This record gives sequence, C-alpha cells and structure tokens, in this order.
Amino acid sequence: MALNKMEGFKFDGTERLAADYVKGILQPITTCAIWDQIWNFQAKPDDLLVSTYPKAGTTWTQEIVDLIQNEGDVDKGLRAPTHIRFPFIELMIPSVASGLEQANAMPSPRNLKTHLPIQLLPPSFLEKNCKIIYVARNPKDNMVSYYHFHRMNKSLPAPGTWEEYFESFLAGKICWGSWYDHVKGWWEAKDQHRILYLFYEDLKMNPKHEIRKLAEFIGKNLDDEVLDKIIHHTSFDIMKQNPMANYSSIPTEIMNHSISPFMRKGEVGDWKHHFTVAQNERFDEDYKKKMANTSLTFRFQF
Ligand code: A3P
Repeated sequence: MALNKMEGFKFDGTERLAADYVKGILQPITTCAIWDQIWNFQAKPDDLLVSTYPKAGTTWTQEIVDLIQNEGDVDKGLRAPTHIRFPFIELMIPSVASGLEQANAMPSPRNLKTHLPIQLLPPSFLEKNCKIIYVARNPKDNMVSYYHFHRMNKSLPAPGTWEEYFESFLAGKICWGSWYDHVKGWWEAKDQHRILYLFYEDLKMNPKHEIRKLAEFIGKNLDDEVLDKIIHHTSFDIMKQNPMANYSSIPTEIMNHSISPFMRKGEVGDWKHHFTVAQNERFDEDYKKKMANTSLTFRFQF
C-alpha cells in the first residue's frame, strides 16, 4: 500500500481513512504504508512505552506517568498535548502527525505510545529491555468506548450501527485487531520482560495503590501529598477540562467532539447502557471460549 494512495485525501470531515491488514491485523492504511519503518523503529534502553488496546485508558495512564516523572508539577504537564508528549509510534496522518518522526526527533529519555499487539511490536523494544506499561480494560466497556471513538474519529473506518460494531469487535475485525488476542498476548509476555500490566478498573477503584505501583516501576519515590495531587489532576473531571489531555487540540475534521467527546464518561459498567440482554448472553458465551486458555480475568462492574 503506497502513501500516494493518500494523495488528494483531505480531512474535511466527510471522508474517512481506510484500513488494511498488516500481518493479519487491521490498521489504518497510513500505518500499513510505512509498516517497514515502524517495524524497524529503534527503541532506546531508557524509552518508556505505554501500550494498550485502543480505549483502555491510555491517555489517563499517560497523564499519570508524566506527572509521576515531574513529581506532581502540574505546570510541566501542561507544556504540550498528550500526543506530543508521547509520540504514538504507528500513527501516521499526512500533514498532521507522524509518530515515528516525532519519536526520532525527541530527546531521551522518551515516553512513547503504541496500540500494537505484542507480535507487531517493533522488536527493538524487547531487545533493549525497555520499560513497558500495559493497561487493559474490561472488554464490554472497552467495546462501547471504542464504538463511540470510531463515531467521532475520522482517521478510523466508520463503525456501522452498534449491532454491526458489536459483531466486528467479537470477530476482531477492527483496527488493532482482536481485543482478546491483544490482552492475552501482552499478559503472556509480561513475566519475561519489563512489563507492568495494569487494569483500568483497578485505577478507578484504588488510584493511589495503582499510581504508587506505577511510580515504583518508573523509579520515583513520591510522598503522599504528591500522590494525592496526581490523583486529583488525573481525575476524569479535571482531565476533561484540561486542553493538554482532552484531545481538543486535534482538528475537528479528524476528531469531532460534538459527535462524542474524547473524554466521554470514564466509568466502569457503562456497557449496561448499550448491551441488550441477548447481546450480553452472546458476549459472555463467546468470552468464555476465547478466554478459556488464560489466567487473565476482568471485572465488568464494581
Ligand atoms: P469512555 O469512552 O468509556 O469514557 P484511551 O485514552 O485509551 O483512548 O481511552 C479513553 C477512555 O478512557 C475513555 O473512556 C475516556 O473517557 C477514559 N478516560 C480518560 N481519562 C480518564 C480518567 N482520568 N479517568 C477515567 N477514565 C478516563
């Protein structure tokens, strides 16, 4: 797939970026076009990577990580939008953003972001033994969040109806592939590499405990006062108002927050407002089969 396929493509709010397969995983066509460069990306030993399946709480984690590194200095967190502070290595939107270019131009130590499943992660990250933070979210809420994100984000294919999207999610026929394979793949890798595996639901339930874990992993010893400050500034309501964390800096032609805001609800259990009883039964049956071969478990509500 050549980048010149993008020639003439304009994000004017009417068209959407198409998707194609990289090694069996759907990706935006711009990512497919530069796949060799992404695969050959050279990580450095002091890179810190935040990895997630899309909509699992990436931005929240990035904000927490940045504040931990800056010992709770909120003004430092406001220096640039999230996508500049954490280049998104496989993202490529011509004339808007290139994660690789940003990453390569960034001084070390770098914070980076990816949604790639582990088998598509550029090998240098594991070869260089980089620290990686992986965050997973229960698939029902993850699906709902991703559906609404597709609706508002023109750099992803149209989601179709909720019923259609539900089926696409179960089949893994959406960008970045199967949620099931993604969370299991990273789970299986976590003990052989420097991977801290966290859950959105734990962050929500006990932010202090999880932020302390993150700080320890990053190598920062923070006192209670700083931890409380970080909890406050990374709460959903505060982040929703933070222009450096709420993606309001992305042109409306790409992300249209009036369709669905990036900072949408930030809750555990919102799936109950979307799933029909029949969908829930179908989901649970399918989930049991797909997750039968793993010790990984999720909380769907508190
Ligand atoms: P919802 O759509 O369910 O509201 P990502 O950053 O991986 O794209 O994930 C986005 C999801 O995380 C959205 O979920 C968003 O609202 C939620 N989120 C972002 N910041 C949050 C925070 N501080 N607390 C809780 N949820 C947050």
